[in-house]
Amino acid sequence: MNVTLPMHLDDLDTPALAIDLDLMEANIDLMIRRLRPQAVHVRPHLKTAKSPDVARVMRDAGAIGFCVAKLGEAEVMAAAGVDDLLITSEIVGAAKLGRLATLHAAHPRVRVVVDSADGARMLNGAVAGSATPLELLINLDVGQGRCGVLPGTAALELARSVARLPHVRLVGLQGYEGHLQQLTDRDELIRRVDEAMGMLTMTADLLRRDGHTITTVTTGGTATCEYCAAYPGITEIQPGSFVFLDRSYRDRLAPESGYKNALTVLATVISRPRAGRAVVDAGLKTLSNDLGNAEPVGLPGVHYRPAGDEHGILEWDSAQQSPLNLGDRVALIPSHIDTTVNLHDTYYAHRSGLISAIWPIAARGKVQ
Ligand SMILES: Cc1ncc(COP(=O)(O)O)c(C=O)c1O
Repeated sequence: MNVTLPMHLDDLDTPALAIDLDLMEANIDLMIRRLRPQAVHVRPHLKTAKSPDVARVMRDAGAIGFCVAKLGEAEVMAAAGVDDLLITSEIVGAAKLGRLATLHAAHPRVRVVVDSADGARMLNGAVAGSATPLELLINLDVGQGRCGVLPGTAALELARSVARLPHVRLVGLQGYEGHLQQLTDRDELIRRVDEAMGMLTMTADLLRRDGHTITTVTTGGTATCEYCAAYPGITEIQPGSFVFLDRSYRDRLAPESGYKNALTVLATVISRPRAGRAVVDAGLKTLSNDLGNAEPVGLPGVHYRPAGDEHGILEWDSAQQSPLNLGDRVALIPSHIDTTVNLHDTYYAHRSGLISAIWPIAARGKVQ
């Protein structure tokens, strides 16, 4: 789409993804400012925003570097000059190992997690031709039950295996407590974060006593990072969703957390088939619904639901006449931003409706 700046959101074709820059910057400021008194660095996770432009705003605000979930995301970010990266998923398979070797040769600050001796050997073999060792973090399962070696002796054995390999260097531990992000009971959340952080820091100390240099201990998502950051021994936190927030996170976080929904999907009313109902041009190819449905902004008593790939239905609580007309715009707060952002090519960044930047979502679809 050819556009000349400045331009108003009302002039955009839809569906379109709009970032309220004032709200996004406030979220970033809040995350960094809130944690400044703690001795931790903020390494935001770019699996959410998937954009080097958003990364640069966070870097200017004080982010020490970034996390990415996939090698493909790392390649996009590094090519755009954002290359202090931790890839938070294990990298396995010949195709990926070859790409990682190429990335490492050009961007030695890219770090990777590992959770097995076999995985470490594969990584070591992949970068054997490189002058600089590949820096590794042991991925620890602190209760999520996904990837990760178990805390304690299993992690110690892995650390010893890594230490025997010449082309990789162990620098830290990652222990992401993803299973706790959904908890709404504050006391339970704090108690279980403490348990998880105990496992992580206890293992870091165990490895240090065995002679390993563990400088980075990283963890924490949007719901938990405040508590993780306060736990002695944690050096970095890696939240992602806070930058835009979404409906499901907003519903779970305490209102005093202060984070605001900064991202909306703009849609247009394309049909008004009956009273109390309007159809918009945003369905499942525009808004994910894995964590529920999006929420219309400024339309109390109106509910959105997808009606197929390309359509969405707005329904009024009572069968009153809809105040919306054909062609009217509706802004919708996504229920889950990560999976919604991945459906789009472009962010329209605005202040009070006036577009000030158009940013490609450069890492969208980079699932490999
Ligand atoms: C390893 C890891 N770290 C950090 C995050 C960021 O979590 P959130 O988006 O809840 O802030 C995620 C999210 O899935 C993750 O997988």
